[in-house]
Amino acid sequence: MSRLVDLMQGSAPPADCGDLSSLPVERAEILPETMLVFHMDPRSPGADRYRLLRMRLRELGSSGKLKTLLITSPLPHDGKSTVCMNLATALAEGGKKNVLLIEADLHQPALNARLGINAWAGLAECLEGGVDSRSVIRRVHPLNWYLLPAGGPRANASELLQTAALGGVISKVSPHFDWIILDSPPVLPLSDATSLARHADATLLVARADRTVREAIDETVAIIGRQRIVGIVLNGVSSFDRSYSKYYRSYYSPKAQRPEDNNS
Ligand SMILES: Nc1ncnc2c1ncn2[C@@H]1O[C@H](COP(=O)(O)OP(=O)(O)O)[C@@H](O)[C@H]1O
Ligand SMILES: [Mg+2]
Repeated sequence: MSRLVDLMQGSAPPADCGDLSSLPVERAEILPETMLVFHMDPRSPGADRYRLLRMRLRELGSSGKLKTLLITSPLPHDGKSTVCMNLATALAEGGKKNVLLIEADLHQPALNARLGINAWAGLAECLEGGVDSRSVIRRVHPLNWYLLPAGGPRANASELLQTAALGGVISKVSPHFDWIILDSPPVLPLSDATSLARHADATLLVARADRTVREAIDETVAIIGRQRIVGIVLNGVSSFDRSYSKYYRSYYSPKAQRPEDNNS
């Protein structure tokens, strides 16, 4: 049996997370505008792209250390937060892996609002000191992953992310999770993602189809450093290869999705 199949069957032992079950639970309100294609339409081609991404990441993880993954992009609205939530849902599918999403975009926090849940203290308060990171993590139901949100708005957001405290927060929570995903601000207008990349094992770039220009990607790769980047996700592809869409229609006929509905 190939190594990949072993991984897909969850042969790796889960992280030691016995006490995560005592964390508070928040019930998310998942609406079409939440753009959680993986949860809302798990048989769609869009959801299947996330399965492929999950498989590739597991494969990379099997040949070296890959647990903390930074997701970033050149500019705002490229789809970083959308990819973070869908990927977290894909990695947590089946409940075998404990996945933490840390909202490290302290400038434009959006996850609580996108999930329809009230905000609570989060990363900003932890970085300032005095708040224990474990105390601000909650499980998001029914998505099965854990959220450490941005917390309250801060004028000194970039300075906070550049302190050594961020490494402390990540090291403290790391033993409890199999995957840690860092949502982030865009690379070109701000310096935050560059500091965040130093705390991640790898960086995944998001580009928005029909919007992100090649020069912006090149510049982002140069800033983050090619050696830190594991790949690029093209978000918002509006047409799906016809040969694939035929396959999906016949295979998943009850919930078949039209090619133009693909959201990954
Ligand atoms: N594949 C997609 N198809 C349609 N809308 C999308 C897609 N990805 C993201 N969006 C929408 O674009 C906006 C920006 O996405 P978001 O993930 O918040 O970007 P970022 O975190 O990079 O700023 C949101 O309103 C989101 O719902
Ligand atoms: Mg975002």
